Amino acid sequence: MVVRHDVLVVGAGLAGMRAALAAQAAGADVAIISKVYPVRSHSNAAQGGINAALAPDDSWESHAYDTVKGSDYLGDQDAIEILAREAPQAILELEHMGVVFNRDEEGRLGSRNFGGASHARTYFVGDFTGQAILHVLYEQLVHSGIRAYNEYFCTELLRDADGAVSGVTAFDMRSGEVSAFSAGAVVLCTGGMGRVFEPSTNALICTGDGTALAYRAGTALMDMEMVQFHPTTLKSNGALISESARGEGGYLLNRDGERFMRTTAPNAMELASRDVVSRAAQVEINEGRGVDGCVLLDVRHLGAAKIMERLPQIRELALEFAGADMIDAPVPVLPGMHYEMGGIRTDVQGATPLAGLYAAGECACVSVHGGNRLGANSLLETVVFGRRAGEAAAAFARSRPAQPAPESSRADAERALRALVARGGHERSAKLRLEMGQVMTRRVGVFRDDAGLREAERTLVGLRERYADVEIQDKGTLFNQALVAALELDFMLDLARCVVAGALARTESRGAHTRVDHPRRDDATWLKHTLCLATPDGPRVDTAPVSITRWQPQERKY
Ligand code: FUM
Repeated sequence: MVVRHDVLVVGAGLAGMRAALAAQAAGADVAIISKVYPVRSHSNAAQGGINAALAPDDSWESHAYDTVKGSDYLGDQDAIEILAREAPQAILELEHMGVVFNRDEEGRLGSRNFGGASHARTYFVGDFTGQAILHVLYEQLVHSGIRAYNEYFCTELLRDADGAVSGVTAFDMRSGEVSAFSAGAVVLCTGGMGRVFEPSTNALICTGDGTALAYRAGTALMDMEMVQFHPTTLKSNGALISESARGEGGYLLNRDGERFMRTTAPNAMELASRDVVSRAAQVEINEGRGVDGCVLLDVRHLGAAKIMERLPQIRELALEFAGADMIDAPVPVLPGMHYEMGGIRTDVQGATPLAGLYAAGECACVSVHGGNRLGANSLLETVVFGRRAGEAAAAFARSRPAQPAPESSRADAERALRALVARGGHERSAKLRLEMGQVMTRRVGVFRDDAGLREAERTLVGLRERYADVEIQDKGTLFNQALVAALELDFMLDLARCVVAGALARTESRGAHTRVDHPRRDDATWLKHTLCLATPDGPRVDTAPVSITRWQPQERKY
């Protein structure tokens, strides 16, 4: 089939749905295309909350400053100012749509503390805030009548004769039918790429598809080396154990029962920014003060009632997957891959340098997180910049109506997919994916150095060669998950190279990027973004300036 819409949003998580609603409100005929049903998007897994300076004694300036400091001064301050200024309105909008945020004793919106924040400004629904917001936005989507093409996998961005992005090719995973979707503008909201690492807190679907599509189309990926390692993930399966546990007053302990954050961050303790807490926890583990390769998260003193009210999901996760009931036992946790702070470079309207292409949410880098994202700023980013990208895409599409995609682009995509399925080979994509994830965790983790990064690079080059010998064993068209897995791996291998290229280039330590061979932050050389551009030989690294509006870099102390 060949389909036409004014605006096509790829991805149906919070950023995607918010972008679609905004584009429709701006008068566009909008469709969403997603490889999963919207309520299965990974936004579902966001636990702790969403930030805004709503309280009378808080201010957007304070929120913005905390975010700049948290980013280790790599975040673009013009974008951060927008994030913090527009946050209160974004939360109230969600509340009015029907999100049942926690209330305080007086019935007002009640917040909790979160890491790196100088004020309790995280608004939440238990420890399943993402799920609560996702379902409310989905209600809005259904009500809006926006067309959703669910379980479609996008394979390529289409370009018109002027080079502008004019749609996508995609196949219906249920039938294998390949279609061309033409659009006046495309908004990529495809989420994170956590599964480049193994393990990760990310869902198995987080394979960076949109990020790789944009990279292959020629847009720069910015600050890809900035990978967030969440301090508290479960050893058994990498599942997220929300920062809310510490926000509500939980402790991190080493083998000797010491709150080790006391030495690293004497003021903020467990609520220092995530990069700081993850490094401290990893040091405890590396220096033999851990427990079976973990540190301990202790919330017993909060009492059963509070744990059941505020932290029910993580209690269940720890019980199911670590056999520890938080009510009466500490939970073993360790730093694990959680979030990609880099991504498709955009301006504050979500526009990429490619005409007609927009991006928002985790796949984008606007950049509000810089070297280290503050917890609960990601949900905020999805709704603030999702809305902006949707509005800007609608305006662009008005000025340049969608032209029908030529049938040849659909036929070419179909031919390429059929050839991929038909080819023989000796490799399995699952094996390559595991090897990629393991080398990324081992060599591109919390602590990095030149030798380890070069080893990772060599491994990735080898995996790319072996990818040419992957056989897709399922030769059918119905729900061909083996084909989907192979395509996802193809995308992830590109993105992993960018993470490593950025990490090799950035010869300093900033935010979550810790080079043990370059232990200091080097503002003179590296107060700038890295950009990865696709070449036939892998990523070429360039740089771009950081936007500084009012906060000059200082030493970070928590
Ligand atoms: O710990 C958490 O609840 C995660 C929140 C976030 O990544 O923003």
